[in-house]
Amino acid sequence: MSTRHFLTLLDLEAEELGYLIQRAIELKTMLRQGRRHEPLRNQTLGMIFEKSSTRTRVSFEVAMTQFGGASVFLSPRDTQLGRGEPVEDSARVLSRMVDGVMIRTFSHETLETFAKHSSVPVINALTDEFHPCQLLADIQTFTEHRGSIRGRKVTWVGDGNNVCHSWINAARQFDFELVVCAPEGFDPRADLLERERGRVQVERDPERAVKDASLVVTDVWASMGQEDEQARRASAFRDYQVSPALMDQAADDALFMHCLPAHRGEEISEDMLEDPRSVVWDEAENRLHAQKALLEFLMGS
Ligand code: CP
Ligand code: NVA
Repeated sequence: MSTRHFLTLLDLEAEELGYLIQRAIELKTMLRQGRRHEPLRNQTLGMIFEKSSTRTRVSFEVAMTQFGGASVFLSPRDTQLGRGEPVEDSARVLSRMVDGVMIRTFSHETLETFAKHSSVPVINALTDEFHPCQLLADIQTFTEHRGSIRGRKVTWVGDGNNVCHSWINAARQFDFELVVCAPEGFDPRADLLERERGRVQVERDPERAVKDASLVVTDVWASMGQEDEQARRASAFRDYQVSPALMDQAADDALFMHCLPAHRGEEISEDMLEDPRSVVWDEAENRLHAQKALLEFLMGS
């Protein structure tokens, strides 16, 4: 069988994604019980980071350690990647040595080019366009707290960014309704909205958008690479802050998620992360379990 990659949520079948969520929950229990499970012994994951990271880096490194393997951290600052060695060449060389590659970069095309020339599985650890690993952890978290997300209403409040794009893909793969509530000019990609017409809607008014939602999700107003737009965005998004008062307009059992890092006083109120409806710390922890399920699926024998 040809090498499987995970560049977006659409690279796996819905059934395979469902399996990963259940497997992530199982692997979490096994870890809690102290049961050793080392399906990737002697395997190595190459980790290319062209943008900063806390959760993604640590969760992938710890995942490989717990699985009996190892990881190599590669930054453009001290590899030939930063000195212009073609992505195609780097992919061919690295995939002759490591068993899988995880990439966090700017352009999604760079990731696709790398994957095209890689003989080992490539995982998207965030591009300007998508962040599929985050969604594995998010769906796992919702499932643990509330059961299946199928048929639920999820509301995204904020920028139509990479994480939002992955929520749109998730709506398709996990079969739920998504409302995107962004100020005009900050909608997600039109082709994605068009493709999921009927399942994904845009609503400008936050109170109307969160009505009956089982889950409210947000993210920073300016993503990595958009630092220069911070001031303009802060003013455009002023009315799009998620707070306990906004959560009161959602369903009674609504949960709140944020991929983190969060900016208190901007996309969330000062007290939002400590609200009982917030499950952000479980969500962050689940990056580990969900990615272990993914690594085992792609790299395990
Ligand atoms: N949520 C997320 O991907 O966090 P990091 O940028 O810290 O990896
Ligand atoms: N949208 C954010 C997510 C960070 C995990 C960014 O791309 O910076």
